Amino acid sequence: MKIQKPVYYGDYLQLPKILNAQATESEKYGKPAHDETLFIIIHQTYELWFKQILHELDSVRDIMQQAFVPSTELSVINSRIERVTTIQQILIDQIQVMETMTTLDFMEFRDYLVPASGFQSLQFRLVEATLGIKAHHRMEVEKRFFNSRLKDEDKTRLEDTENKISIFELVEAWLERMPFSHFEGYDFWGQYSSAVDKMLKQDREIISQNPILDEKSREMELKNLDMTQETFNTLLDARLFSEWKGEGKVRLSQKAMLSAVFIFLYRDYPALQMPFRILNSLVEVDEKFTTWRYRHAIMVQRILGTKIGTGGSSGHEYLKSTTERNRAFLDFFNLATFLIPKNMTPKLPKNITEQLDIVYDSFRS
Ligand code: HEM
Repeated sequence: MKIQKPVYYGDYLQLPKILNAQATESEKYGKPAHDETLFIIIHQTYELWFKQILHELDSVRDIMQQAFVPSTELSVINSRIERVTTIQQILIDQIQVMETMTTLDFMEFRDYLVPASGFQSLQFRLVEATLGIKAHHRMEVEKRFFNSRLKDEDKTRLEDTENKISIFELVEAWLERMPFSHFEGYDFWGQYSSAVDKMLKQDREIISQNPILDEKSREMELKNLDMTQETFNTLLDARLFSEWKGEGKVRLSQKAMLSAVFIFLYRDYPALQMPFRILNSLVEVDEKFTTWRYRHAIMVQRILGTKIGTGGSSGHEYLKSTTERNRAFLDFFNLATFLIPKNMTPKLPKNITEQLDIVYDSFRS
């Protein structure tokens, strides 16, 4: 038997390596700037957390990449995604620490850093690509900016990850394999469509009879309702849906979208609770990344104003535009459009509810 050697705290964590990795540029030029240490440590902390996020996302990808995803592994997938969102909250909160550095403090060392920039954070790009944001989803200017600034070996690693299947694609395929877009012997989507018609008819009556609305507002609200009707029609019509996809209004396939809508509508059934939690956690990942991007953009505006970034972009303006654009799971947000009130959702026949239910209890005698 191998005898276990005593482990020393600092050796195990390789602290000498980590704690001696804060070499300031300002010192090299003989003008040490106090705040550069904070600047380095905060970036290093981010990169460590990005590493942990990738570790979690890679494992989620491995599980979901199996030909068959066993239901017993769904809670592992969900708890790892939830761990990612917990880390993301720390990433958002850390911006406050960065903001203790003022513009003048930053100006003491900023010029020494050119052209290094967050553009060159390979791990940030790997997280994006693993989630599902790939080169063809990016703005031309964005691709040009960071591709020209990455080292060749980093570009190759990014391309490798972009060529792998993303979590978005795996979740889409998983939703497509679920049996909820078509039920044998029961026209669920016909029933859903009738429920939607009934709901919109009620809304139309409320708008038409609302005494507070003047004619112009009434006309506008009725027009909005027509648009809502069209959106519902698109969900259920394969041709209209593929037009939507062609125009980039949606990324998910129609089959996957229908499964997701079904899961959101009937999430109270035990069989659907875990898929619902996973989709909801992915929404949370997307929301937290968007919040981080926005907080980072605002911090950049506070520290740089309208100056360009060290990576050469327009700074705040560029970052603001990525906030809305780079969203891997936007379709799951927009899914809310297709939800109807609980009391209007079609009642499912017994042969379907039996498949969705698990009986934990028996009647008290
Ligand atoms: C004083 C603090 C900071 C300033 C002034 C700043 C500024 C900027 C600017 C101007 C850009 C746009 C690219 C460019 O032209 O350089 C950028 C991008 C970026 N920064 Fe920061 N940043 C700061 C702190 C941080 C921190 C702490 C992180 C954490 C890792 C970070 C991560 C990133 C990332 C990932 C991008 C690329 C974003 C994208 O292209 O979507 N930045 N930053």
